[in-house]
Amino acid sequence: MPSTVKGVIARSKGAPVEVVDVVVPEPGPGEAVVQVQACGVCHTDLHYREGGINDEFPFLLGHEAAGVVEAVGPGVTEVEPGDFVILNWRAVCGQCRACANGRPQYCFATHNATQPMTLTDGTPLSPALGIGAFVEKTLVAAGQCTKVDPQAHAAAAGLLGCGVMAGFGAAVNTGAIGRGDSIAVIGCGGVGNAAIAGAALAGASTIIAVDVDDQKLQWAKDFGATHTVNSREEDAVEAIRRLTGGFGADVVVDAVGRPETYEQAFYARDLAGTVVLVGVPTPDLEITLPLLEVFGRGGALKSSWYGDCLPSRDFPMLVDLAQQGRFPLADFVTETIGLKEVEEAFEKMHKGEVLRSVVEL
Ligand SMILES: NC(=O)c1ccc[n+]([C@@H]2O[C@H](COP(=O)([O-])OP(=O)(O)OC[C@H]3O[C@@H](n4cnc5c(N)ncnc54)[C@H](O)[C@@H]3O)[C@@H](O)[C@H]2O)c1
Ligand SMILES: [Zn+2]
Repeated sequence: MPSTVKGVIARSKGAPVEVVDVVVPEPGPGEAVVQVQACGVCHTDLHYREGGINDEFPFLLGHEAAGVVEAVGPGVTEVEPGDFVILNWRAVCGQCRACANGRPQYCFATHNATQPMTLTDGTPLSPALGIGAFVEKTLVAAGQCTKVDPQAHAAAAGLLGCGVMAGFGAAVNTGAIGRGDSIAVIGCGGVGNAAIAGAALAGASTIIAVDVDDQKLQWAKDFGATHTVNSREEDAVEAIRRLTGGFGADVVVDAVGRPETYEQAFYARDLAGTVVLVGVPTPDLEITLPLLEVFGRGGALKSSWYGDCLPSRDFPMLVDLAQQGRFPLADFVTETIGLKEVEEAFEKMHKGEVLRSVVEL
């Protein structure tokens, strides 16, 4: 029997989100229904609502979630009912050319549930990032469920499903930050602060947080930033150079995704350094750079999809480190809210008042 449950949708571009009845089918072959326990409010949800990702409205929002598997469809072996899981939005398919080449963290396939969740009138919903988790139950591909220690607190664990994993991985996997390196992180929301916490864990010795909001910079210090720069008050590139002996940082992470922040990242890295773009630009944005500078500065200009993570490797590892008190996962949860408060949470995110609001169900 399909279930009818409450969920949060964005019906049209820019319109306030609504809590509505959502019909969740029984899991088909290779699918699982998960009772969502917690789901973080990520900037990407707001991008969807603003039409910045695509225009396949209505969207079922939410994608940073943890919960318990309720039912699985035929042929599912990865998980079983009762498993505590974090949902991932890039399940490794095992068959595409990246997987075949032994680089599953770059899996190119989209591996989501094939049946749609719908409104009660049958209108299909587009689930954010192929998940859709501001909803009491959601239907996903079984491969999107990653089992972790059930002792973990769902509100914190769910954040590994997107923002915290993306930020951590941008620094640690994509940027390959290591002991004694210097790193600057531009934009210290949930994603940027996770990059800072990851760099601290990996042993970076200079960790420069850049933001336009002093509250975010204060949080960045708590996550391990050794220096902070308010780029409304001082030039970010000059400040990063000054704090790195005049050279620039080994790795600069752009966790905003705008031409001006990318340009700062480009010029604020040391020769042969690495720029990591993890913030997601909207389709209207463009950048022009002198090609000679691109050549002359050497190094690497990289993008980080989902922190180049491997959910089966990285989610349990980070849950374990958090349980041991070595990774401050719980500190990313600024507040817990109900399904009806997602619109307010967008507002708070926009004003910079929260790192993460997390919907608890
Ligand atoms: N690559 C991925 O896989 C991935 C995953 C999750 C989120 N994201 C993206 O990462 C970005 C950040 O997400 P978030 O949830 O941390 O958002 P957020 O809104 O919590 O944080 C953004 C931060 O950037 C700061 N900021 C804005 N403009 C700035 C500027 N010009 N200079 C310096 N700081 C500036 C804001 O003050 C805020 O602290 C978003 O674009 C989101 O879509 C990417
Ligand atoms: Zn996200």
